Amino acid sequence: MEHKQLAAFPNDFLWGSASAAYQIEGAYDEDGKGLSVWDNFVRIPGKTFKGTNGDVAVDHYHRYQEDVRLMAEMGMKAYRFSIAWTRIFPNGTGEVNEAGLKFYSDLIDDLIANGIEPLVTIYHWDLPQALQDAYGGWESRQIIPDFVAYAETLFKAYGDRVKYWVSLNEQNIFTHMGWQIATHPPGKKDEKLFYQVNHHANLANAAVINKFHELGIKGKIGPSFAYTPQYAIDSNPLNVLAAENAEELGAHFWMDVYVYGEYPIVGLNYLKAKGVAPVFEAGDAELLKSAKPDFMGLNFYQTATNAWNPFGGVENKDSYQMNTTGKKGTAKDSGIPGLQKTVVNPFVETTNWDWTIDPVGLRIALRRIASRYRLPVLITENGLGEYDKLEDGQIHDDYRIEFLKKHVLAIKEAISDGVDVIGYTTWSYTDLLSWLNGYQKRYGFVYVDQDETMTGTLKRIPKDSYYWYKAVIATNGSDESLLK
Ligand code: BG6
Repeated sequence: MEHKQLAAFPNDFLWGSASAAYQIEGAYDEDGKGLSVWDNFVRIPGKTFKGTNGDVAVDHYHRYQEDVRLMAEMGMKAYRFSIAWTRIFPNGTGEVNEAGLKFYSDLIDDLIANGIEPLVTIYHWDLPQALQDAYGGWESRQIIPDFVAYAETLFKAYGDRVKYWVSLNEQNIFTHMGWQIATHPPGKKDEKLFYQVNHHANLANAAVINKFHELGIKGKIGPSFAYTPQYAIDSNPLNVLAAENAEELGAHFWMDVYVYGEYPIVGLNYLKAKGVAPVFEAGDAELLKSAKPDFMGLNFYQTATNAWNPFGGVENKDSYQMNTTGKKGTAKDSGIPGLQKTVVNPFVETTNWDWTIDPVGLRIALRRIASRYRLPVLITENGLGEYDKLEDGQIHDDYRIEFLKKHVLAIKEAISDGVDVIGYTTWSYTDLLSWLNGYQKRYGFVYVDQDETMTGTLKRIPKDSYYWYKAVIATNGSDESLLK
């Protein structure tokens, strides 16, 4: 629908940006920190682009004050960051590492002193290696009490100052990549185990949300879901059905559990027929039903387009190849015979890493979440990963401004449609390690002199997009000339 006039962003809208511990902190073995599964996984030859790792990353651990100062100068209202479990509990459980607790406490204080709302992600993929070794990490139900104990420590330490909490970051991505296609730790391909691991993550998520509410902390908590809205290539009913299959198994399958505490009917039926449905134990159904997030965290990057794929059709889930090199056109489409296959959408552009650019898709994502789940939405990630070029000490990233302005406009349109959007933390604040893609796929408002050699000076340089976002924040998104 079109609106004659767009609604205003709420006065307390959380304009911000985001990061994750492993991707920015560095100091991977300092001040009592234990090793995470990522500290080890990156050392397996061939797993990451040119063998890049986060040992130093962009050295945020030692430079957080400089980073916060730049945020303050930009007028940022909120900063989403994650806590490294291994700084708090080096072995995952047991004795607290006071130095780790203090690091985040100081960061939170510094943010608040600068008028920036801290948004804390409890888990952004860096599981303590000790828990992986002890019982297979997410493969065991033992993860549930351990995750709750870790989260409770954070709630008690920071709950007086932190009002927004993200329980799990992109459960759908870390389980898919870790247990379905082996590109993240622990590097397995086992469909049945994948759905079981995912079930444990659902239980852990529910238990942590319940713990937060039980403690009576004044704040809000929710998971961040990586939602890729699914389209059909055309109005052929079979292609529409293919898109519905993708939406059911790629989106409802997670968000329904978060909000309704139940797997969706068609998706669960499909898994049962295949013999890969998660095994429930006594009390699981009740636990899932008992927890309700206060908001849906949305990580939106792209949309996907589907066509019908009968038995005997395209099957390349196993060899599914992501483009991690930045050579446009090298990603391969995926497909599951009997369900769907992805196809090129002729209406949208793509990045050099073959991700579609689709701001209307963000509006669609927000509307679908609002109408199916009736929850406020906190956009916890959205951004453009691209090459940046330093020219005379500056970065003229007009392509990033172009990307972001269209997405901000789409949010404004979704708010005008009636969606309750409470904030927007772009990905990312500074440049950082892009897990499998090294340092050359840059997302930040602030350029960091770091690259695949991992010997950069780590100097920070605000990009043109930094100044554009500063102007958007200063006008609370009301100056539409900045969005067109
Ligand atoms: C999300 C993650 O999947 O997308 C981030 O939460 C990640 O940690 C971001 O960096 C962009 O993905 P990538 O693979 O380009 O770094």
